[in-house]
Amino acid sequence: MLTVSGLAKRHREASRALFSDLAFSVAAGEIVALVGESGIGKSTLLNCIAGLDTPDDGAIEIGSPAVDIVRLGEAARAALRARSIGFVFQAFHVLPTLTVGQNIGVPLLLAGVPPAEHASRTQALLTGVGLPGFADRWPASLSGGELQRVAIARALVHRPRLILADEPTGNLDPRTAGQVLTLLLERVRAQRASALIVTHSRHVAEACDRILTLTPQGLE
Ligand SMILES: Nc1ncnc2c1ncn2[C@@H]1O[C@H](COP(=O)(O)OP(=O)(O)OP(=O)(O)O)[C@@H](O)[C@H]1O
Ligand SMILES: [Mg+2]
Repeated sequence: MLTVSGLAKRHREASRALFSDLAFSVAAGEIVALVGESGIGKSTLLNCIAGLDTPDDGAIEIGSPAVDIVRLGEAARAALRARSIGFVFQAFHVLPTLTVGQNIGVPLLLAGVPPAEHASRTQALLTGVGLPGFADRWPASLSGGELQRVAIARALVHRPRLILADEPTGNLDPRTAGQVLTLLLERVRAQRASALIVTHSRHVAEACDRILTLTPQGLE
């Protein structure tokens, strides 16, 4: 589902490369945890995979038949992202001026799903994350845990084959974090998607199928 090879990245003005010659893959249906100390480059790696940042070298092949997102232009990257990738950010990124239902509908718009299907798909996802009846609520009236569940629903609603999650429970108390993570894993498995989940939590990492550790020397 995801094959990364020879990947190298150095941010402009940075004294050393964040990573070079990284290689790993995530199989169809596999959930992989990505751990490593703060500042090591986990978010940068995820952003490269999502086509939101560009590596200096290497290939990032997504799906089958495989498409190297690094080689695509902006428009084609956006189209691949809209079709195949779901992203859960640390800080929710739920848009405050849209209702919960409209927020979850954004990926459906981007993926070109017929409008007639939006309400039922949104409802199904909201029920799946334990928030039935929340479609017309405004994000400002939701708790942190509820917002993160909305973010999970939004990452999954267009049935992407690959979910990328960057510290999906970083802003939550441990109990809520545990519940949200269990939900994310359950939903990813229900959709038979693959996932790469960045986390600082041992507990979260151990709930995944496999753990990759990013170090200054590369992946372990
Ligand atoms: N756009 C950018 N331009 C320049 N430097 C950047 C940019 N983005 C990140 N960096 C730097 O690259 C390094 C890696 O950042 P990154 O956000 O990938 O780390 P991380 O492993 O996700 O850390 P954390 O666990 O704290 O989220 C940091 O030193 C950061 O300051
Ligand atoms: Mg990060």
